[in-house]
Amino acid sequence: MIQNPERYTITAALPYTNGPIHIGHLAGVYVPADIYSRYLRLQNRDVLFVCGSDEHGVAISMKAKKEGITPQQVIDKYDGIIRKSFSDFGIAFDNYSRTSAKIHHETASDYFRKLYENGDFIEEVTEQLYDVKADQFLADRFVTGTCPKCGNEEAYGDQCEKCGSTLNATDLINPKSTITGETPVLKSTKHWFLPLDRYDAFLREWILEGHKNDWKPNVYGQVKSWIDGGLEPRAVTRDLDWGIDVPVEGAEGKKLYVWFDAPIGYISSTKEWAQREGKDWTPYWKDKGTKLVHFIGKDNIVFHCVIFPAMLKAEGSYILPDNVPANEFLNLEGNKLSTSKNWAVWLHEYLEEFPNQQDVLRYALTSNAPETKDNDFTWKDFQARNNNELVAIFGNFINRVVVLTNKYYNGVVPTPNELSEVDEQTLAELQAYPAVISSSIERYRFREALGEMMNAARLGNKYLADEEPWKMIKTDPERTKTQMYVALQIAAALSTLCEPFLPFTSKKLLKMLNIKINNWNLEFEDWNLLPAGHQIGEAELLFAKIEDEAIQKQIDKLEATKTANLAENKKAEPQKDLIQFEDFAKMDLRVGTILEAEKMPKANKLLILKVDTGIDVRTIVSGIAESFKPEDIIGKRVTVLANLAPRALRGVESQGMILMTNNAEGKLVFVNPDADGVGNGETIN
Ligand code: MF3
Ligand code: ZN
Repeated sequence: MIQNPERYTITAALPYTNGPIHIGHLAGVYVPADIYSRYLRLQNRDVLFVCGSDEHGVAISMKAKKEGITPQQVIDKYDGIIRKSFSDFGIAFDNYSRTSAKIHHETASDYFRKLYENGDFIEEVTEQLYDVKADQFLADRFVTGTCPKCGNEEAYGDQCEKCGSTLNATDLINPKSTITGETPVLKSTKHWFLPLDRYDAFLREWILEGHKNDWKPNVYGQVKSWIDGGLEPRAVTRDLDWGIDVPVEGAEGKKLYVWFDAPIGYISSTKEWAQREGKDWTPYWKDKGTKLVHFIGKDNIVFHCVIFPAMLKAEGSYILPDNVPANEFLNLEGNKLSTSKNWAVWLHEYLEEFPNQQDVLRYALTSNAPETKDNDFTWKDFQARNNNELVAIFGNFINRVVVLTNKYYNGVVPTPNELSEVDEQTLAELQAYPAVISSSIERYRFREALGEMMNAARLGNKYLADEEPWKMIKTDPERTKTQMYVALQIAAALSTLCEPFLPFTSKKLLKMLNIKINNWNLEFEDWNLLPAGHQIGEAELLFAKIEDEAIQKQIDKLEATKTANLAENKKAEPQKDLIQFEDFAKMDLRVGTILEAEKMPKANKLLILKVDTGIDVRTIVSGIAESFKPEDIIGKRVTVLANLAPRALRGVESQGMILMTNNAEGKLVFVNPDADGVGNGETIN
């Protein structure tokens, strides 16, 4: 970990421009990155916060195919929407670029060429998946299949989102083209590979030894298991027609792999910023005194902790990230956020329902940030955070201070008399907050930091409730002056301390108090954040109560989405190709009973079952752990495909398959033979 960095380069994952962004993106990546950058700016640090749109890759081509428009139209549309959402929510990038920009194409091409000339790639003709019907090679999101590591049947050609493994398309079991639904064939093609195995020692020393204690356990653990699993060469080029051309001879028609070019986008975005500002970009990426921090979601961990660092190391002149504080995922009302299922709170829609309430969402998302585990966003929690915390504590305190100051003193900060012990203690406590909040932020604990900021507001609220200046004014108006003076100092401190988290609120509060923002550590020496005689402005409501109806409306909207999805799912899948009776007769289907069941260690989806098939008692590994508890299925009658060739899943050999189907809610259920008197081993035909 760098001590006392000279400057900071802060990056937030470049969002794919294949759709708008939702609360999951904000909570996982952009709000924490923004809090961190804003906080550092208040510390007067040299901060560069960059991002941009990720406009290459299969995600974009697929969206274009689906909407019947060109990839260029797709990226222009969503780049616009995403940019607006970021600026609406106060995500204060120093630069937001696009990977379709000329400067990026040049930077990424040069980077590739340099590694190519250094001999950092392996050039190899290999068999890749090819969709005959679409006349196209399949990689990444163009192909789905079963993850060889965890059994998830919806893994992509480059990654399994369930277990986080990074895959090659050819690793998938039962691959299927997402373009035509066809099973691909293998076809030879030449590609360039980054031999990650050459970086094994470097990565072990740099991360596994060097960052054991300062990287988050979820990040460190994922990287360790990836390295321990054995690093292999990884293709950095693709046979695609959308992307950056591979800039070497003999690569006509080939493009750079999106995960090769996208992280270089951080560098191009820095260059674009430097050109505009007349600055030098190089120290932000090459000076050892720079602290580089990547904010990402957990599905991006290996790309930022293994592949990109290997690329940086290969190039040789770049610094490496000091930390990659990746978050887990945010769920919505108990279900995984999903763009395709429209299970999301879209940022542009949120603002239509809750205009000017960006900070409420920033607050709710940070309070509930998925920092150490997946977390759930619920509308009820959102309402409670607003009504019970922002309105009842922060807003209430500020409102009382500003209203009373205007009422008693025409808005002029009164001259205090001698401070009481409580006053001294309160101000001393207030003085400690910048350091307390800093310590949490520096360790990337933004929920904790926000909690402390609210404690500062609680301190003010409690001070007023205990001191009751509105009563004191009747008996001892001189004492009231001191009380109001103390309360005003807390209000002024809050206007700075809340800025990283609630930038819109900070602005309003500064205006109300008629002051400029302070630096983070606040000028506390003489307690004069707001000097006596200073004229403050009128009271303005910082937060408004959110009524039940507004929340119910959102819940109803999600219910409607659920119903629509169910109706969609009910549509029967089209029939598969005809088979002959002999094909069917090859399957040996048996009635069986589950005798034992246990969870597969370290796998979320898998259960290890012992099944009496009538022929024998055998082990079957089944991907049903998310739907059934082991103890609930012991004794269950099931249908078993007995002669399926055995297959090892996580080192356990599975000897057969249990037939499953889905019920109306999309939940897994057994295809079970309930008829009386049917014994184990009975054949089904
Ligand atoms: N577009 C990717 C995603 O949304 C993130 C790219 S991050 C970068 O998952 F490093 F490649 F830029
Ligand atoms: Zn997996």
